[in-house]
Amino acid sequence: MPILEQTTSSTALDLAWVRSQFPALAQIVHGHPAVFLDGPGGTQVPQRVIDAIADYLSRNNANTGGAYHTSRNTDRMIAEARSAMGDFLNCDADEIVFGPNMTTLTYAMSRALGRELGSGDEIVLTLLDHDANFSPWKALEEKGVVIRTVKFNEEDCTLDMRDLAAKIGKNTRLVAVGYASNAVGTINDVAEVVRLARQAGALSYIDAVHYAPHGPIDVRALDCDFMVCSTYKFFGPHMGVLYGKREHLKRLRPYKVRPNTDHIPNCWEWGTLNHECIAGIKACVDYWEELGRRAKPEVTTRRAAILAAHEAIHQHERKMTEKMIAGLLAIPRLTLYGISAPRHFDNRCATCVVRIEGHTPLELATKLGERGFFTWDGNYYALNLTEQLDVERLGGFLRIGLVHYNTIEEVERLLAALREIVG
Ligand SMILES: Cc1ncc(COP(=O)(O)O)c(C=O)c1O
Repeated sequence: MPILEQTTSSTALDLAWVRSQFPALAQIVHGHPAVFLDGPGGTQVPQRVIDAIADYLSRNNANTGGAYHTSRNTDRMIAEARSAMGDFLNCDADEIVFGPNMTTLTYAMSRALGRELGSGDEIVLTLLDHDANFSPWKALEEKGVVIRTVKFNEEDCTLDMRDLAAKIGKNTRLVAVGYASNAVGTINDVAEVVRLARQAGALSYIDAVHYAPHGPIDVRALDCDFMVCSTYKFFGPHMGVLYGKREHLKRLRPYKVRPNTDHIPNCWEWGTLNHECIAGIKACVDYWEELGRRAKPEVTTRRAAILAAHEAIHQHERKMTEKMIAGLLAIPRLTLYGISAPRHFDNRCATCVVRIEGHTPLELATKLGERGFFTWDGNYYALNLTEQLDVERLGGFLRIGLVHYNTIEEVERLLAALREIVG
């Protein structure tokens, strides 16, 4: 089971307040209110994130490490953002590495880990993962590393845990697995993956990009070695964040320029970072904190507020998922890929992919787009998945991604629009 930290009493999401925070949600497109169902590709941001970015550029725009006002403010701001992300993932600030996106951070880590690997070493990957948690590791084949891939069960797109256990052996050095699939929405049992990796003496690398807006992440409880996510998927700016256990960040040797310090986490951060977006990341975590404090006023710490926010989000997303999946399954000639039985909904997020006979995903996304619904078509870089399900040559799937700022009413309108389009 995925790890869900429990808080004691039940919390409710203040949806009117939530929606008022996101200026983009008020847009009218082609005469229709815009409905953002493209969260898995990137979420909208609250006003405070926009303000923090603009404020940083207006007043504190400087490089780091200078002996003057704006540079010192920049250093302070980055330290605060690191500590905020530490609370988001439940780790220390010096275990947080900022980077342009998850893909770049993962290539950087695969290069560094690859320095220690050679012929006969094995890496275990899954066919359910986004390619950003596949290709950077597969690139190490050039060093003689053997890649072993784990299958998924085609009926419900869950990871084949038996296959995973069988693929991990005495030569396994790393197991790289997604927390949740950005295509079919499956939440993987990452606690078990980490346990199996550790038992074999291998490192675990968890891609939490898709999971982060939907569920709480606790790297300490999971005891994983690495965890990556992208802030633009959970209401922040376009950046990536990597958690690495301090011992690994210290021991491994990043490729880096000489003047860059050898101290963690800076030695993993190449060149000048996107400071304005880091200011936006701090504001993004502030948003999570306020959401949680509104849902559960008795919380005392930022971490507890973030968990309370997740609890409120979970309940709301669950209701929308139930309505969405029941409505989709009632549409003739529609196939939903992934978990569809409500009793297993704890193992999926509110991300649905479908195909409808007689309509390509691109046609459906285009017609929905004309009606103000922003959905996605294709493979979303989950290429192994669309190839194994043999839908890659057919245009992949139509993806409908719900996040906490969506509403039950939007779900109903989307279902009505789909019914109308397919006749
Ligand atoms: C599950 C998952 N992993 C990795 C990525 C890549 O993230 P980034 O765009 O930050 O490189 C994505 C992007 O969609 C994703 O959904």
